[in-house]
Amino acid sequence: MFESRRPDAIDMTLLTVSRLCAGYGTARVLFDVDLVVGKGELVGLLGRNGMGKTTTLLAIMGGVRPSAGAIRLSGRRIDGLPPHAIARLGVALVPEGRRVFADLTVRENLLVGARPPRDGDEGFGLDDVFALFPRLFERREQRADRLSGGEQQMLAIGRALMTNPALLLLDEATEGLAPLVRKEIWRVIAELAGRGQSLLVVDKDVRALARLAHRFYVLERGRIVFEGTPRALLADRSLLERHLGV
Ligand SMILES: Nc1ncnc2c1ncn2[C@@H]1O[C@H](COP(=O)(O)OP(=O)(O)OP(=O)(O)O)[C@@H](O)[C@H]1O
Ligand SMILES: [Mg+2]
Repeated sequence: MFESRRPDAIDMTLLTVSRLCAGYGTARVLFDVDLVVGKGELVGLLGRNGMGKTTTLLAIMGGVRPSAGAIRLSGRRIDGLPPHAIARLGVALVPEGRRVFADLTVRENLLVGARPPRDGDEGFGLDDVFALFPRLFERREQRADRLSGGEQQMLAIGRALMTNPALLLLDEATEGLAPLVRKEIWRVIAELAGRGQSLLVVDKDVRALARLAHRFYVLERGRIVFEGTPRALLADRSLLERHLGV
C-alpha cells in the first residue's frame, strides 16, 4: 500500500514559540504568544510602543523567564535555560540601544564572544563582518566609544554575527539613526537574508521591513493579532492604522 507522507514541516522550523506567557514580577505582558521562524526565513514582529516586542525577544533569549508555554529551537526546549546556554545553542540578540564594550577596539569587540560556525555552515569570521561593514574595517583599531551611533549599531550586529547564530534577533536596529546609516543597516539585513540567515526582526519601519520579510506578526497588548505575508499586511489599512500608526 502507498504510504502517505506529509512534508516534514518540523524539519523546516527553527524556532517555535507556543502559548508563551511572560512578564515582569506580577505584571503580565505576553499572553499565549504563538510564533514560528522557519529555517532561512526573515520574520517581522511589529506593534506599537509597549505591546511586548522586546519582551518576546528577551523571553526567546532567556532574559525574561516565561511563566507558561514553550520555546523550542530545532525541536529542543530552550525556555528556562539561562541566556548564555541559549546563545551557545545558536540564538543571538542585538538588543535595543546597541550594546558594545566601550573600552575595547572594534576588532576586540568582534573577537570577544566569537564562535565557530555550526556544522556544515560557511559561517562568519572577522573578514566577513568587515566585508559586510566596510566602515568597521576602516575603524577596526578605534575604541568603540569613539564610534558614531550608527557605527556602534553596525558593531553590535557584527558582534552577534561573530557568534554564528542559527537565529538572529534584531530589536530596533535602525532606530534613531541617520537615513544613510539606516539604509546601510537595511542593506546588511537584506544580504543576511539572501545568505539564508534566519532572522526575527523588530522594527518601526514597516515599509522597509515589508520589502524583505517573508512573514509578519503583529502584537497588541501582548497578544498576536495578525500573522501573514507582507502583501496581506500592507493591504489591511485598518490593521496598519490601528496597530502600527502608518
Ligand atoms: N523591566 C521591566 N519591568 C517592568 N515592566 C516592563 C519592563 N520592561 C518592559 N515593561 C513593560 O512591559 C510592556 C511591554 O514592553 P516591551 O518593552 O516588551 O514593549 P515593546 O513592544 O518592545 O515597546 P517599544 O516599541 O517601546 O520598544 C510595557 O508595558 C512595558 O512598560
Ligand atoms: Mg522594544
